Amino acid sequence: MLDFLGNLKRTHYCGELRAPDEGRDAVVMGWVHRRRDLGNLLFLDVRDRTGIVQAVFNKETQPAAHAKAEQVRSEFVVAVEGKVVKRQKANPELASGEIELVATKLHILNNSKTPPFAIEEEINAAEETRLRFRYLDLRRPKPRRNLALRHKIILEMRKVMDELGFIEVETPMLTRSTPEGARDYLVPSRIHHGQFYALPQSPQIFKQILMIAGLDRYFQIVKCFRDEDLRADRQPEFTQLDLEMSFPRQEDIFHVIETVMVRACAVAGIKVAAPFPHMLYKDVIRKYGSDKPDLRFGMELYEVTHCFPDEAKQKLQIEGSVFALAAPGAAGYSRKQLDDLTEKAKALKARGAYFVKVTPEGLSSTIEKMIGAENVHKLGEACGAKPGDLVVGVSAKEQIKGTEAAALIAGQLRLQLGEALNLTDKSQWRFLWITGFPLFEWSETEKTWVSAQHPFTGIVDEDLDKLESAPWEVRSKGYDLVLNGYELGSGSIRIHRQDIQERLFKALGLSQEQLRRRFGFFLDALTYGTPPHGGIALGVDRIAMLLNGEKSIREVIAFAKTTAAQDLMADSPSEVDAAQLDELGLAIKPEVKKPAE
Ligand code: AMO
Repeated sequence: MLDFLGNLKRTHYCGELRAPDEGRDAVVMGWVHRRRDLGNLLFLDVRDRTGIVQAVFNKETQPAAHAKAEQVRSEFVVAVEGKVVKRQKANPELASGEIELVATKLHILNNSKTPPFAIEEEINAAEETRLRFRYLDLRRPKPRRNLALRHKIILEMRKVMDELGFIEVETPMLTRSTPEGARDYLVPSRIHHGQFYALPQSPQIFKQILMIAGLDRYFQIVKCFRDEDLRADRQPEFTQLDLEMSFPRQEDIFHVIETVMVRACAVAGIKVAAPFPHMLYKDVIRKYGSDKPDLRFGMELYEVTHCFPDEAKQKLQIEGSVFALAAPGAAGYSRKQLDDLTEKAKALKARGAYFVKVTPEGLSSTIEKMIGAENVHKLGEACGAKPGDLVVGVSAKEQIKGTEAAALIAGQLRLQLGEALNLTDKSQWRFLWITGFPLFEWSETEKTWVSAQHPFTGIVDEDLDKLESAPWEVRSKGYDLVLNGYELGSGSIRIHRQDIQERLFKALGLSQEQLRRRFGFFLDALTYGTPPHGGIALGVDRIAMLLNGEKSIREVIAFAKTTAAQDLMADSPSEVDAAQLDELGLAIKPEVKKPAE
């Protein structure tokens, strides 16, 4: 028989009872974390959001309560009335471990099936099981701490934005496509047969329209939706801190974001200093082989093409550049370890990987016969290699237009070696602004130039003339914020002139008809006195992930989806009733051929 809560009032949270509460009458409510039956004494660990308290039931003094306590199992929901007493032997593992609650009455408010995994700090349940039973997973302290810190971070972001004069405005979720490089999630309209809303990939167009509307400083903590390949730092729906300002200089936007990040980090007990350093895109690619470099360790890249004579290049089939790094302490790598590195490089589409071992006795290399001893020395010197280091060089199979493919491969090896050699100082928080992006990048799949960021990104004034004639040389007014190897945010000073926006769309190959259909309303709005404006969006989930010390954003999203974009708990996506489809005027084809990636 279950008890009713009735008018029973909770007096204390379980995890908050302490030694000074000794002697108080208390009523706690929560879940039975553990039950230990020692015959005359029965212990229930009762757990709520704040932690655990031990309740003790004495058969002799409180036979009724004791008898009832014998009926409860793990995860039953109970209320315990009792008196706080000092424990004879404190339990240092519990915050409330100096006291216990001597129970006078037990109310069993609900029962529970046996959970599929223990509700403990560390568990080894498969992630699928945790996601399917998320309500149980979230009873664990760690996910709860993650959500609590996420809440504090968002709260602080809102405070900072308000203090800086930004107004939070909600933009529509049922809207039309906003190009951010992913596929749209579409929502069919019932009233307008054959027509669809798109869920926003970002509020980009609306926030720009808010600048045209004279809002001057807008922000929003907002859900965005993107149908794209998922990874540990990507979900189909995620949260941005999105902002836009009128008449800004780049440094004004940077200053706002630095203030936000310094304060968000402080909430997590992390001290960081602003302003953050800046680097040009072309320099980070050459130096770190990544547009989101992890600066918590060095091991920078060097271009070493000059160490390869033409003849060697031919033999080694090197066409483009060769990039190399000096891995500290890896000179002792075995043959097998070098073979593994070569395999990794080849999997990343390297033509080859070349090694120089630097020992106190001298340099030795796998390619000494090809390039000669002098060039082996040059290679070591070019990378600043010291005794004990292993120089790792790579060339690429294909050249990627505009970027150094070999540098990108070396950048990946840098990360893997950094991890393997334990080079990362985990106590560091290395923010970096990246500027000087190219406006376009070449899309191999579409065989055309596409926007490197999105098509509203401003164009460096001096490069405007090259928009049609040499698009690959055009630089954008875009910037990214990077932290410890993750892209946290991205933004730009925008195109605010209609004529330039239209030229840009044309450069992207949009026909006049497509242009009117997709962006007509926006191009029209631009003609009504658009102020120069710019902004940025930060990935809130990624920030919460890093500040919580997690490796996946799924750990900081209450109801995360799997990498197959499924919500295992709600079992979505799911089929719908035929009647619903009829109402929408939709029919499901028996088999849809998957479009090529
Ligand atoms: P962008 O597309 O770079 O820019 O997105 C900004 C930031 O949002 C986060 N992010 C994601 N987080 C989790 N899962 C995803 N699928 C995902 N996609 C993006 C990243 C990223 O840096 N409208 C522009 C911003 C602007 O120009 O003002 C935009 O959305 O942290």
